[in-house]
Amino acid sequence: MSAELSPIDKAKFVAAKRAVDYVEDGMRVGLGTGSTAAWMVRCLGELVREEGMKITGVATSSRTAELARQVGVPVSTLDDVKWLDLTIDGADEYDSRLNLIKGGGGALLMEKIVATASDQMIVIADPTKQVETLGAFPLPVEVIPFGWQTSKALIEEMLGNFDVLGRTTSLRLANDQPFRTDEGNFILDLHLRKIGNPQQLSLALNQIPGVVENGLFLDICDIIVIGNGDGSVEVRDINNGTVEHEQIDIIDTDNLFVDIAD
Ligand code: 5RP
Repeated sequence: MSAELSPIDKAKFVAAKRAVDYVEDGMRVGLGTGSTAAWMVRCLGELVREEGMKITGVATSSRTAELARQVGVPVSTLDDVKWLDLTIDGADEYDSRLNLIKGGGGALLMEKIVATASDQMIVIADPTKQVETLGAFPLPVEVIPFGWQTSKALIEEMLGNFDVLGRTTSLRLANDQPFRTDEGNFILDLHLRKIGNPQQLSLALNQIPGVVENGLFLDICDIIVIGNGDGSVEVRDINNGTVEHEQIDIIDTDNLFVDIAD
């Protein structure tokens, strides 16, 4: 396996590498889902294997749990661990207040439970995901399969009262079948283009009986690490109001590919 990374993978990798600096020996760490979070899991695996770091991971999806085990990160359940020191996860969109849209990978429910059960949430992303107003990325909403069409109709009706630019919704598919989350639920993607009041929308969505959770992560993220293809990162801390720029050394990434077949 070549250690030569594409610019986008380099951006994800440096964001992940910088984010794992926040992980300390003995910590209980929430492990996000998605391609950026996968880099973070690989970086954590390297810390466990090479430096003997002791951590307990709680995965936000079955695929993250599988990757964590492959790279040597011990995985436990949230019910066993109960509370986490830190969660590191990706995002589909973030704004200047570090409010997020998540769920592009369909893991929003476990991601929100895990992030909310953490002292700190760190998001890893690249600059293409920054928006002035949330909503360009379709908002994922997890619904139970029973009566999903009624839930969809109720959501569409409710959107009429909200400051959004688009009101169409679609059932997420995988191989021409409804996509199923780890909990066996469906995902409706809401094509809103702009969300004027995310707080109100999030509350209203979660009051519709068939809705399990929505992909708006509001006032949950503490720090964002934005990676760039040239190996630089920007670290924004919303609580301290600080913004720092750093260059990350990419010396040898071969050890990070233990989970990837040649
Ligand atoms: C999964 C998520 C992911 O964090 C989000 O989709 C970003 O993924 P990627 O890092 O692959 O762009 O919310 O449910």
